[in-house]
Amino acid sequence: MSTHRRGAFIVIEGLDRAGKSTQHARLCQNLENQGHRVKRMRFPDRTTPIGRSIDAYLKGESQQEDHVIHLLFSANRWETAASIRTAIEEGTTVVTDRYYCSGIVYSAAKGRDDLSLKWAREPEVGLPRPDLCLFLDITPEAVAKRGGFGNEKYETSAMQKRVRELFYELMQLPDGQEIKVIDAGRGIEDVERDIMERVLRMMAQTKMTEGLESILPW
Ligand code: ADP
Ligand code: TYD
Ligand code: MG
Repeated sequence: MSTHRRGAFIVIEGLDRAGKSTQHARLCQNLENQGHRVKRMRFPDRTTPIGRSIDAYLKGESQQEDHVIHLLFSANRWETAASIRTAIEEGTTVVTDRYYCSGIVYSAAKGRDDLSLKWAREPEVGLPRPDLCLFLDITPEAVAKRGGFGNEKYETSAMQKRVRELFYELMQLPDGQEIKVIDAGRGIEDVERDIMERVLRMMAQTKMTEGLESILPW
């Protein structure tokens, strides 16, 4: 049996302006300071051809049918799946800013009968499954104090409210197992410390000699 230690796969999730990108940068830096090799990723990855169509859609420069944009977001994860597995296998820890939870809840939050949470999850089945998903939670009131919305597609109060409800619904389902809620309404350093503590606990508890799992069907 191999005693080779693989890298960890960590996801930062949450609502718009919860502090994901801030905490993603700090966590990556903190892990590097501790001697880990880290691969930073973000979704959507707006640099690929698929990512560029997503970017245009989010900025309102192009239209996409709801199922089509959903599948593009998913394809934008699939085009990185092999590189995630390779990095992990080589012992690098992969940390992503958003992943499939965002993919599922933002599309389902549109409220279409033909785009349920269950439907939205199907294209994600088979992707590398994270060891830990940190859900940065914040109330709409607290988020309002962080400055106004930009002008991207989903930055409306009604959409954000529904997204938060659906994140909580998702946590009750089998995917909730690796999701940990982080109170993101506190100061940046408090949140940073809490995240690092959770990550170190997960790394101590996970058998890093076994390969990464995949997202399973419900
Ligand atoms: P996200 O990536 O989730 O949209 P950002 O990390 O870009 O969020 O943060 C959104 C805004 O809120 C930025 O101006 C950032 O400086 C600020 N911010 C981030 N974390 C906190 C915090 N804990 N308290 C107050 N302001 C914060
Ligand atoms: P992002 O660039 O992370 O924006 P921010 O830093 O402001 O939170 O995400 C852009 C938008 O894309 C955001 O509203 C969430 C949405 N999104 C989806 O709808 N589906 C997805 O699969 C992903 C990854 C993001
Ligand atoms: Mg961000």
